[in-house]
Amino acid sequence: MSIIQINNLKKSFGTNVVLQGIDLTIAKSEVVVVMGPSGSGKSTLLRCLNFLEEPTEGNIRIGDFQVDSGGKANRKRKKEIRELRKRTGFVFQSFNLFPHKTAIENVMEGPIIIHGTKIEEARILAKALLTKVGLGERCDYYPAQLSGGQQQRVAIARSLALNPMVMLYDEPTSALDPELVKEVLQVIKDLAREGMTMIIVTHEMSFAKDVADRVIFMDKGVIVEQGTSEEIFLNPKEERTRQFLSIVE
Ligand SMILES: Nc1ncnc2c1ncn2[C@@H]1O[C@H](COP(=O)(O)OP(=O)(O)OP(=O)(O)O)[C@@H](O)[C@H]1O
Ligand SMILES: [Mg+2]
Repeated sequence: MSIIQINNLKKSFGTNVVLQGIDLTIAKSEVVVVMGPSGSGKSTLLRCLNFLEEPTEGNIRIGDFQVDSGGKANRKRKKEIRELRKRTGFVFQSFNLFPHKTAIENVMEGPIIIHGTKIEEARILAKALLTKVGLGERCDYYPAQLSGGQQQRVAIARSLALNPMVMLYDEPTSALDPELVKEVLQVIKDLAREGMTMIIVTHEMSFAKDVADRVIFMDKGVIVEQGTSEEIFLNPKEERTRQFLSIVE
């Protein structure tokens, strides 16, 4: 069974229709890269997936759990949305770490607050995850003492600490100096190899070629075309895709 199912997802901001009815099914362990021009709705798609934005229409299923758009904002619904969010890890362009907490405290926080994990257990988990992203020696550093690439890897570890079914990345390397991009992409590649299901919005073409099982090209709130990275990068069928690729390459 697919791990993510998006049905007829629509999102408008006032009269601005940003997502025009997206249908998307993603298999377990699939790595999907989303590309497209600025304003095409990539971030909105990711944000609607865990209801950081409330979709105008449609529904989202992650794992065995479905949330429909348009529900009343009552306590039951808040709980539904929390359940959905538990299934996703979200990594933003701007790392969003707590500045007054060390790397390890940043990673421990979620399991303690959300899962009720005991402090010592959370510390062991956090240490293992920071080691996994290459920061085992930086546990006690504060975000300001870490490079952008290191901060982003802490942010990835922090998301992983909640044991999500799927990881969502919104341009995870676009705020980084070029020499720091590689270390973050490597961590994401390692996760792909381990079978983590991921949706990644990125402009990093060679990374996309490397890691993507499927590349989706979006424009103006629709999926214009999708296929393997070879199909999309070497042999795009749609004029809009060709135009976009000629600009970013
Ligand atoms: N909170 C909001 N309120 C109003 N309009 C919004 C909001 N968020 C996004 N939009 C609009 O939705 C459209 C799509 O934005 P979105 O951020 O999803 O694009 P994007 O593909 O991620 O672009 P970029 O590559 O620049 O990040 C834009 O026209 C944007 O102005
Ligand atoms: Mg965006």
